[in-house]
Amino acid sequence: MHHHQLFTFIALLALVGCQSKKDANPQPAFRFAPPAHFGTRFVIPADNPITEAGFELGRMLFYDKQLSIDQSVSCASCHQQSKAFADGRPFSRGVAGANTKRNSMSIVNLLWVTRFNWDGKANTIEEQALLALQSPTEMGISLSEAAQRLQNDSRYPAKFRAAFGTETITPDLIGKALAQFERMLISSNSRFDKIIKGEVRATAREQAAIDLFMTHPVPQINLRGGNCGDCHGSNLTTLNTFHNTGLDLIPKDLGLALITGRLSDQGRFRAPSLRNITLTAPYMHDGRFNTLEEVLDHYNDHIQPTANLDPLIIEASNEVNGKTLGLTPQEKQELLFFLNMLTDTDFINDPRFSNPFERR
Ligand code: HEC
Ligand code: HEC
Repeated sequence: MHHHQLFTFIALLALVGCQSKKDANPQPAFRFAPPAHFGTRFVIPADNPITEAGFELGRMLFYDKQLSIDQSVSCASCHQQSKAFADGRPFSRGVAGANTKRNSMSIVNLLWVTRFNWDGKANTIEEQALLALQSPTEMGISLSEAAQRLQNDSRYPAKFRAAFGTETITPDLIGKALAQFERMLISSNSRFDKIIKGEVRATAREQAAIDLFMTHPVPQINLRGGNCGDCHGSNLTTLNTFHNTGLDLIPKDLGLALITGRLSDQGRFRAPSLRNITLTAPYMHDGRFNTLEEVLDHYNDHIQPTANLDPLIIEASNEVNGKTLGLTPQEKQELLFFLNMLTDTDFINDPRFSNPFERR
């Protein structure tokens, strides 16, 4: 039942039949209703509306190892549903056993993200997918080879026709189909979501944990806070902003600066969604922390005084003139308790997101 709650498609039945005559795209559009508590600040590109056939095609492509040059990996090798579409490794194994330079990201709630990857390199999901195909540490395939392979596979041309009205398979359409599948990967049914949606009432302990996570500390008035909401705020648990969180005195990976070329962006990375964070270890762009306890120890005790350290971290302490965040062991436990409220078992068990080549 609940997967239908996540987002409802109402096929515009009235359009079936009459639309296919004049429209190159024979698929009726879905009415796609993303969960209201994530807000309406998202864009579905006008030239890539989500259809059932496009979503199903994208799902096949996501799980198809043909799309890597040596047929050894699919997108799903590094983005596994059981791990909320991350892969459990500090760095991922791509084609020819090559390791990625960064930790695989959970693919979740991308509809509300505007710059993709840890450094914001891609501006659209479509573009990101084509980068993954070509990356020598991911799938290592040229876009023309990818299109050719699918064209020669008897299962695909008809699927592209159903989704896009043509049997001519192009890189553009491969990116579009993958993006349709990825846009649907919405996780909105964790305990935290149910509380926000008003479906359940927070216990006192849960409410205290939410408040601690979201509050910026003001020790002068004895307002204690975990300060996490400054960057992982809102119902999405991310403001989608870029920050240097003081992991290293001298960042080994320049992050956002690789894209902007700006010195002040060195060591800045996107603050990701924390949905299903208990399932996506290890943590950070380089997978350096194995546990959430280690992540909290970092924020509380080991912030490095690096050149671009984010002001939201410098200014945050629970002690007047404090140099560290100054959380008590009990407060760390409360934050962990909050992070555990973000696991959404519907999301990782949703059959629509599973491998279509395996029967369930
Ligand atoms: C070998 C492992 C590997 C494979 C294969 C792979 N990815 Fe990834 N993916 C990663 C890594 C690592 C990152 C982080 C990249 C970075 O920040 O530079 C990532 C990031 C992403 C993101 C960004 C999420 C966000 O919140 O910004 C998306 C989306 C994504 N991958 C989709 C895909 C798709 C679609 C495919 C298949 C076409 C794919 N990936 C194949 C490892 C992989
Ligand atoms: C100044 C902004 C900022 C604040 C404050 C902040 N974070 Fe983060 N958080 C980030 C950024 C940016 C990243 C990615 C950092 C990286 O990989 O280099 C991140 C990463 C994480 C990750 C790992 C995510 C993953 O997928 O690997 C966790 C968990 C996390 N933060 C939890 C917290 C908690 C809990 C707090 C409060 C104690 C907090 N954060 C406070 C910006 C922030």
